[in-house]
Amino acid sequence: MTKLGVNVDHVATLRQARGTSYPDPIEAALLAIDGGADQITIHLREDRRHIQDHDLVRMKSSIDVPLNLEMAAADDIIAAAVKIKPDTATLVPEKRNELTTEGGLDVASARFELRGCVSKLRNSGILVSMFIDPETLQVDASISAGATAVEFHTGSFCDAADEIRASAELERLVIACRYAASKGLKVCAGHGLNTKNTPAVVRAIPEIVEYNIGHSIIARSVFVGMREAVREMKEILFAGGRK
Ligand code: PXP
Repeated sequence: MTKLGVNVDHVATLRQARGTSYPDPIEAALLAIDGGADQITIHLREDRRHIQDHDLVRMKSSIDVPLNLEMAAADDIIAAAVKIKPDTATLVPEKRNELTTEGGLDVASARFELRGCVSKLRNSGILVSMFIDPETLQVDASISAGATAVEFHTGSFCDAADEIRASAELERLVIACRYAASKGLKVCAGHGLNTKNTPAVVRAIPEIVEYNIGHSIIARSVFVGMREAVREMKEILFAGGRK
């Protein structure tokens, strides 16, 4: 069964906008799990714009599904991860001025530096995934850096300006996912996915065993509630994109 990781960062974004103690991303995570989330995903950014260190500690002790921590390969974040021990660490690129993670991590250009970081995380019992663009070069580099999973950045597909571009981007994802699965990697995907664009990906790429989706679910939950927003996305995955 294809798994759904729900990213609750933007509940913390709303809290940080006012400096209040609500809304609580942990409460959101518990509702998401109630709605069928198989995993909770959070990103401890270096600028701490949404998730805070105390959220990470409380999240780990409050949920009974795996915790996936998106993180830059920075020393202080690695130290936090090793201390809290999420089930998975997904290494992502990070730029201070970006609104969100704009592209995949260029593992091919930094595989030797990343190897040390991956081994620190793996030695702490944390599974390491690389958030990469759908390119075989990046898949090979992820393997050589020691990752056992990859998450493909679906942003170029989701943001494609027209159908021709979208189908070319989907084809890139198909090729990269097949390649990664053939190498024995766990294949995940995420970024920019919503109830309109996810079915096509699910139908085209059975190799994807896990989706990590945040912004669209949190946005939808404003109107229908967290449980229902997660349930809608789970139904799409359950139906193999045929809904
Ligand atoms: N996966 C990774 C690695 C991400 O960085 C993000 C964005 O935080 C997501 C998934 C979720 O993307 P979105 O919020 O667009 O669904």
